[in-house]
Amino acid sequence: MNFNENSNITIFKHPLIQHKISKLRDKNTSTKEFRQLVEEIAMLEGFEALSDLPLEQVEVETPLEKTMAPHIAGPKLAIVPILRAGLGMVSGILALVPNARVGHIGMYRDEETFIPHPYYCKLPKPIDKRLIVVTDPMLATGGSAIDAIDQIKKEGGKHIKFMCIIAAPEGLEALSKAHPDVEIYVGCLDRELNENAYICPGLGDAGDRIFGTK
Ligand code: PRP
Ligand code: URA
Repeated sequence: MNFNENSNITIFKHPLIQHKISKLRDKNTSTKEFRQLVEEIAMLEGFEALSDLPLEQVEVETPLEKTMAPHIAGPKLAIVPILRAGLGMVSGILALVPNARVGHIGMYRDEETFIPHPYYCKLPKPIDKRLIVVTDPMLATGGSAIDAIDQIKKEGGKHIKFMCIIAAPEGLEALSKAHPDVEIYVGCLDRELNENAYICPGLGDAGDRIFGTK
């Protein structure tokens, strides 16, 4: 599959994003720095991913005169991290859109079967009217992202974007096939999955590295 020809997939080439991802990969990067890098990368990706936010003209009075000026329109954006690791990206997007609402989807991957197990879902209402940005730094087999987006659609979500930092080709293909209507933003496309469904070269376990649990 040639991902660059799929208009629903954006693979970032920006040098700042690439540089920060290289620092994330380094096993010697501390928890504090890892967390900060995830936040910064999410902000850089979010800047591009939100470039089609709808605008409306509203009246503003400058010190000189009244004028019509663009304002972000519509119900507030919903950021929906897939727990746990997706949480690390939320603050970066909130820095751009401080009024966004935040939902949560709890999902953990069985270590042997790699099948995702949902354990929590709370989304801001009315979810059908909002632009939804689902965050998870890692898109490995794609199972977690596919199931999370299935759940959001069951709750009525319609306009969905998915943002990750590192993707494996296997997961990117699976997600784009399962949800062709979802726009996917990828910081870096890696080589492959290993026998434990970890992304190679990857960065290891994103949740453990963000929260310092290993
Ligand atoms: C990781 C990661 C994704 C998932 C990706 O989470 O944050 O959610 O694995 O794998 P997949 O594409 O094969 O589904 P994990 O299940 O380890 O949970 P955690 O975030 O709580 O550590
Ligand atoms: N989840 C992670 O955190 N890392 C991987 O490489 C794969 C799944």
